This record gives sequence, C-alpha cells and structure tokens, in this order.
Amino acid sequence: MNSQTSPSSDALSVGICGLGTVGTGTLLLLQDNADEIAKRLDRAIAVSHVATRTLDAERSALLEKCGVPNSSTDPFAVVNDPQVQIVVETMGGYEPAFDVVKQALANGKHVVTANKALIAERGNELFPLAQANNVSLAFESSVAGGIPIIKALREGLAANQIDWLAGIINGTGNFIMTEMAARQTPFEDVLRRAQELGYAEADPSFDVEGIDAAHKLTIMGAIAFGIPLQFDKTYTEGISCITPDDISYADELGYCIKHLGIARRTEKGIEMRVHPTLLSKSRLLANVNGVGNAILVHGNAVGATLYSGPGAGAEATASAVVADLIDIGRQLSAGVHEPVYPALGYREMRDDLPVLAIDEIEAEYYLRIPALDKVGVLAKISSILQQHDISIEAVIQKEAISEIIPIVILTHRAAEKQLNHAISAIEALDDVSGSINRIRVEPFHGEAD
Ligand code: HSE
Repeated sequence: MNSQTSPSSDALSVGICGLGTVGTGTLLLLQDNADEIAKRLDRAIAVSHVATRTLDAERSALLEKCGVPNSSTDPFAVVNDPQVQIVVETMGGYEPAFDVVKQALANGKHVVTANKALIAERGNELFPLAQANNVSLAFESSVAGGIPIIKALREGLAANQIDWLAGIINGTGNFIMTEMAARQTPFEDVLRRAQELGYAEADPSFDVEGIDAAHKLTIMGAIAFGIPLQFDKTYTEGISCITPDDISYADELGYCIKHLGIARRTEKGIEMRVHPTLLSKSRLLANVNGVGNAILVHGNAVGATLYSGPGAGAEATASAVVADLIDIGRQLSAGVHEPVYPALGYREMRDDLPVLAIDEIEAEYYLRIPALDKVGVLAKISSILQQHDISIEAVIQKEAISEIIPIVILTHRAAEKQLNHAISAIEALDDVSGSINRIRVEPFHGEAD
C-alpha cells in the first residue's frame, strides 16, 4: 500500500474495491463531473483509497491521474482504512465481496454496491447488518445500469400497490437478441462483441442463461411487493434455446422475442420469472434494442410507467453508483440517516405473498413442434391440446423441406401445468420427432402502452 496525501477534510472520503469496468467508470466519472457533483452535494467527493486485484502499470497510471493517494491489492485495506467513510464495492462475484461488504458495515462504513448477485443472494444477511450498524447499503447500480429504477420503485411509486413489472434487464442478452434478429449475426460473434464493450458478466453464461436477469428481478420483486429476496424461487430460463427460425416465425405472427423478467402479483401469490417472451411488435418494450434496458411498472394508482436507458457499460453503471454516493453524502451533510430496513420496500417483510412455482402460472404460448410430414398430424396435435383445455389462436405450417415440417402454434391463455401435460403427450406421438420449443407470450392485455 502506498500512502501520500489525505483528502481535504471536508470532502466526502470514498474507497473503491475493484477497478474493473464499473470501478474504473466510477473513478473517472467522479473526476470528470467533479464540479457538477460538488455543486449538487455542496462538498467534493474524494477517492482516498482504491483496491484492485492487479495493480499493473495501466491502473497505477490511472490512479495517479485521478489523484488517488492510497492504493492496494487488498480490499480489506480499504474497508479497514479509518479515513474512508463510504466503501464502493465493484469487485462483483460472491467472495471476497460478501466478506468485504460485511466488514465494511461492521466497521460502521456506508456501502454502495453494484453487485446484484450479492444483493439478490446474500442481501437477507447484509441488510440486517447495515441496520444494526446504522449505515446505508445502497445498490441502485445493481439493477438496469444507469436507470434509476430502485429509486422509482421505492420512492417515486411509494403511494402505489405494485401490480406487476416486466423488463428487459440484461443488456448483453438484449444486445444478442437484437443483433440476431436484425443481422442474423451468429450468437458467438455478438457475445464476443458484448464482452469487448464491457457489457457481459465475467462469466457470460450468467447473461445468456438469465441468472443475471433473475438477480435483478429478485431485487425489484422484493422492493415492489415487500417480500424477502428469494432468488432461489425465481424461475430462470435463458436465451440459448432461441433459434433464428423462432425469430422469423414470431416476426411472421407480428411478434418479436425479448428476454423478459416478469414479477406479477396474482390472487395465488407472486409470479417471478425470467424467460424468452413473445411480445407484440407494437409494444414499447419490443422496440428497446441493443444494450438498452427498460422496465414497465404497473401501479394501482398511476397505471403503467416505463423506465428505459442503458442497462450496462462503464459510464451508465457509474452514473448510478455516484448517485448513491451523492445520496449518502447529502444525508451525512444534513446529519440525518435514513435507516435501512431489511424489508427493502416495506417497513416489515410480508410473509403472506408466496412466490409461485412456474407450473402454477397461466400464460399464452408459442409452440414450435417438429412434426413429420404425415397426413393427420395437425389433427392429432389439436385434439391433444383440446383435451387439456388449451385453445389455439393461430397456426403456421410451411411446405415440407425435409421430412420434418415444423408446426408453429399460438395458444390462448392456458394453465402451464396443463400445457406441460399436453407437450409431453404431443412429444410422445410417433408423428413428432424431437422436443417442442415453448416460448411464453406476454400480451399485457389492456394493461400497458
Ligand atoms: N452483464 C450485465 C448486463 C451488466 O449485460 O446487463 C449490467 O448488470
């Protein structure tokens, strides 16, 4: 660790743990917008200590350029530094991030984190610790990059009972789906580009398999409905099963395919699900492209509101990190502290709203059935659907180009459990070869845009 100078005594002293995409973005934004930030906060924010796993020549030069006096390869040196008032955790991952944040809170330091995995999976342990130590644990940047959705849910919409929210909440996934649909670019090429642009997670399967989106949905659901963080109950399905054929069939039917996170209050409980979804091309969400994120939130008083913007990337995410720093700085300047409640949305956690298993939901469905080119196959399929109380809205069957002739069916609203039985029965037909691709359809009937 080197030690040169101290920040000015009235500046807010911040330590940063992790100098990857978001940590570097935060450091640079604090420097680039220093005047603007100081005017809003009425005092400067000084980064007094940074820990980075690799303190190479490039990072050392950056720290010097930004006037950071103390640096280390040990994040605990930051959280144990008595000068540091607020710790920014931008390391990502579970360990050592959990222990670093825990130690910072135990040391009485406020924490700002961009780590959605940490909040979604370990937040139930960390928020009580923040409350016990009378410090903040702020996490605006953990959901939807630069979009201030946490503030919108917790403050802007506080007068409402939230009925549902639905969002495109993974920039990498949306970037991949957009490029595949617009340019038929191969999946691997688009993913590589997303990694180069700093959008993708260290392990990009988190983006592609929907885990990252499920973390974010878990956090929004907890705030919206006042329920505990329940990542393990959030249904998660990735985008790797979507083929260019699905994109073009959906297009023919008037839909696009987006990877959505949906949280909905129903009479039986809360639906929490991340999966590829058919959306009518006329919906606003259908037109959110590239790395863009957007979240539609329906409150019982306000109706539907839409929040959109860049969902990933250094500057966008840093914008949310710095907003949290300014918020905490304002509280410190005013000598007040808004307590952190372990229940993120309500004062007390609700235990009367169970999260439903996926087979308890109802939805509309797109089915792509690999049928053999034989007389009567469509009749057999419709008969099975009818036996399971599933009615058909539209069918596409093209000319056979091989012995397989895909039949694409859109259903009306049906029970997922019934649909599962119907899919098993159809797949068991001699006239069907292989598994059926099922994609849920979100119509937002009369509820939004
Ligand atoms: N990998 C994430 C995404 C980063 O692509 O959305 C922002 O959380």
